[in-house]
Parts: sequence; structure tokens; C-alpha cells
Amino acid sequence: MDSASPEARTNEVTPMTTTTEAPVGAGSGAITVTKQSGVIGAIVTGLDLSKPMDDATYDLLHQAILEHCVICIRGQASMTSEDQLEYAKRWGEVAVHPYVPSIEGYPGVMKIYDPNPITQTWHSDTTHAERPPSLTILLARTIPPFGGDTMWANAYSAYDGLSEGLQETLGSLRAVHQGTALAADAGLDAEAVKSVHPVVRTHPETGRKALFVNGNYVANFEGWSVEDSAPLLHYLYRQFERPEYQYRHHWQEGDLVMWDNRSTQHSVVGDTNGAERVLHRITIRGDVPK
Ligand code: SIN
Repeated sequence: MDSASPEARTNEVTPMTTTTEAPVGAGSGAITVTKQSGVIGAIVTGLDLSKPMDDATYDLLHQAILEHCVICIRGQASMTSEDQLEYAKRWGEVAVHPYVPSIEGYPGVMKIYDPNPITQTWHSDTTHAERPPSLTILLARTIPPFGGDTMWANAYSAYDGLSEGLQETLGSLRAVHQGTALAADAGLDAEAVKSVHPVVRTHPETGRKALFVNGNYVANFEGWSVEDSAPLLHYLYRQFERPEYQYRHHWQEGDLVMWDNRSTQHSVVGDTNGAERVLHRITIRGDVPK
């Protein structure tokens, strides 16, 4: 095993590792939750999510997501799409994307292909919805031999790092989130995939403030022109690019990664050189951002 791999770090960095006995029915041994970087990301081992999840395991994962914002639960290659849907339903209502089709027979399970301009841009998922997803659950089916990592950035840190004056200004702004041209291709009216959300949102569970803009869907602040909005928006988008706010995930087949769209943004690295990359995504309907 590479000494820099997350598994190796499980043993080396004891203070960052939480180990809990697996509740009956959830897994086969100890569950480990291992922090991966300064402000975001943890890897979880010792669970078999194709089996029904008991309440103690749910509570453990819930706390881990709130604390680490994105968690990877390793070793879930045997999960079927039914299993993934059953697991997702424990977290809330499964959302069906308004214009990207689900895989046949499994409404709400979307196939994610190679990195593309949408997935490579810093974003959180489907923020053109009135109630954007709280969580995303992404299961790695086919992973390229190299490349195609996904990066997440902590949106609390992106907000906390700004000066007080700018934080105060942003507190009064709302941004217009407009679905992409794919919505029109699917015959949807632009208004059906448009929502206006606060630029700074307060997480309904942690109470923390997070930066909430979206490089795929936001071109202007409410009441501002696109030209007037662009410089400030680009400055805000750049906050997610700061390495110290990030966790970069190198995928293994069977990784099930869950993230909190209310406290993170993500972006895929487009370096697979055309190799196949397939992941199955489910999102959970969230609250109206406040
Ligand atoms: C997404 O943007 O939801 C997909 C992320 C990924 O392909 O890793």
C-alpha cells in the first residue's frame, strides 16, 4: 500500500481518526471515519450499504457529513441501483432531475459520464431548483485508469475567508440561478428551471453561513446586469479554487461519495484522455435556501 494513501493514513494519524464499533447489520467490523484534509473530506470504511442501515449507523454518517461535508464510503461495488435508491431514501425525498434523464427503470438515478464543461465548473447540484438538493450520493461504477478525480471545496470556508465588509454586502444580495440550454432542448420553459437564491445561505442544520453561487447557473445578481455582476461573481467563484479549502478525491470502483450541497461546491478534473468514467448519482431534495 502506498504510504500516502488514505488507508495508510487511517493508522498513522490517530487524532484525526474516529473508530466506532459497527452496529449490528451495518457492517462486518469496526467503522472508521478518517479526516482527509484541513477543512473538508473523510473516508469511511467498514460498512456494507447493500444491507439495511440501522439508526446508529445513520446517525454516525449524518454526523460525519455535517462535520466533514463530503464523505467517501469505500467498498460498495456490490450495491445495485435498487440498493442505492433504498439507501438514498433514508436521507429524504429522492429528486428527479427536471431535464437530465434517469437511467431506465430507476427514476432519480442519473448516469454521470466523462468530465464535461458542466461537471468541470465549480458548482453545487441543480441550484436552479426552488429546493436544490441537500445531499448528493454518487456511486463509482467504472473508473478510468488515471484522471477524473473530483474536487470539493468547503463553502463555509469560502465565506469565512472574505472580509467583513464584503460579507455584509453579500448578505443583502440574491443570485439568479438559470438552468442550462439542455433544459430548452428538453422542451422546458426557461422559467421552469430558474430560481433566485441568497448569495450567502445559512445551513439549516449547522447554522453556519456558506457562500452559495454557482458557476454553471448564475450570471447575475438579482437587480444587477450580467456586466455589473461578472467581476464580483468571478471573484466569488475563485474562492472555491483555493487549495486549502479543498479535498481532492481519487476514485476507486465501489466508492460511494456523499456530499452536502449546502456547504460545498465541486468540480471534476478533465484529464481522463477519453477513458470511460461512469458514476451513478442520486440527489435528495433540500430546503428553500435561506
Ligand atoms: C457532478 O457534478 O455531480 C458529478 C461529479 C463527478 O462526476 O465526479
